[in-house]
Amino acid sequence: MFILRNGRRNGSEMKIMNNHYHIHEHHNHEHHVEKREVQPTLINTNNKSPIIELEDVSVNYGKNIILNKINLKIFRGEYIGLIGKNGSGKSTLMKSILGLIPPESGTIKVFGKPIQSEMYDKIGYTPQMHPIQREFPATVGDIVGMGLYKKNLFKPFKKDDIDKIKLALHKVNMGSFFDRPIGHLSGGEQQKVLVAQALVRDPEILLLDEPTSALDFTMVEDFLRLLQDLNNNYGLTLIVIQHNLEILRPYCSRLLILKGSIMYDGLPNIPRADELIKRVFLIQ
Ligand SMILES: Nc1ncnc2c1ncn2[C@@H]1O[C@H](COP(=O)(O)OP(=O)(O)OP(=O)(O)O)[C@@H](O)[C@H]1O
Ligand SMILES: [Mg+2]
Repeated sequence: MFILRNGRRNGSEMKIMNNHYHIHEHHNHEHHVEKREVQPTLINTNNKSPIIELEDVSVNYGKNIILNKINLKIFRGEYIGLIGKNGSGKSTLMKSILGLIPPESGTIKVFGKPIQSEMYDKIGYTPQMHPIQREFPATVGDIVGMGLYKKNLFKPFKKDDIDKIKLALHKVNMGSFFDRPIGHLSGGEQQKVLVAQALVRDPEILLLDEPTSALDFTMVEDFLRLLQDLNNNYGLTLIVIQHNLEILRPYCSRLLILKGSIMYDGLPNIPRADELIKRVFLIQ
């Protein structure tokens, strides 16, 4: 099995059939995804186990079935774009992976095992954002540092921790904001600080629930490119929920379209994805 990774050009094409990838080799180095700024690369995942795996996962809220028999394998180094209408279950899927919502049935494994609290060191998560009040009494450094501690948030940071916080802020291009009160930042700047918080423990998986909702359109692309750099440079596995597919498309390596169940799982830029998007978004 192969997965896609943003990076070098490669003459292979991937098709999805019955939820499995089938590789069709081209030898003319033409890739069917034409206008990507960075062409995807296929990584050989034969004999590799998934970093996240869902088998027949169903999640209910009361009597409402929110997720219905989800089967999904995510491999190290993938940059997954997750889209779907409001209420389609995107945030629920992310929370289920994190073990925050127990499934009604099915199994969820992260790093090959059911999720355990020790794993949270290796998983960064930013929930769907609610703006932080102006008066909130914390600096940017404090907020990022909260990602380091589970308890005793108000003990002073050690030198080591300050270095980690500064590095995480640097990764999201917010290095100069360390001492600024968080409530005085714009919504977009706050969002980047929350991503730095998710990065501060140097995770292997980063789950971002609409990380760009407060960014203006020029910043969204910069931000998605930045995630792509984290994906390329640090091998971070990413799942990003995003409403604007057109903006997301060139950056993610694999697209999931959700509507209670997975309607599409494959390359972000092929006609079948577009057909499904029309069906999922335009038809009730
Ligand atoms: N705690 C809850 N109790 C009951 N129903 C809930 C709860 N959380 C979410 N739901 C319902 O589950 C469905 C899926 O919600 P979810 O937040 O996963 O959707 P989403 O795809 O993330 O939507 P959005 O794009 O608006 O963020 C919605 O109909 C929502 O009302
Ligand atoms: Mg949501």
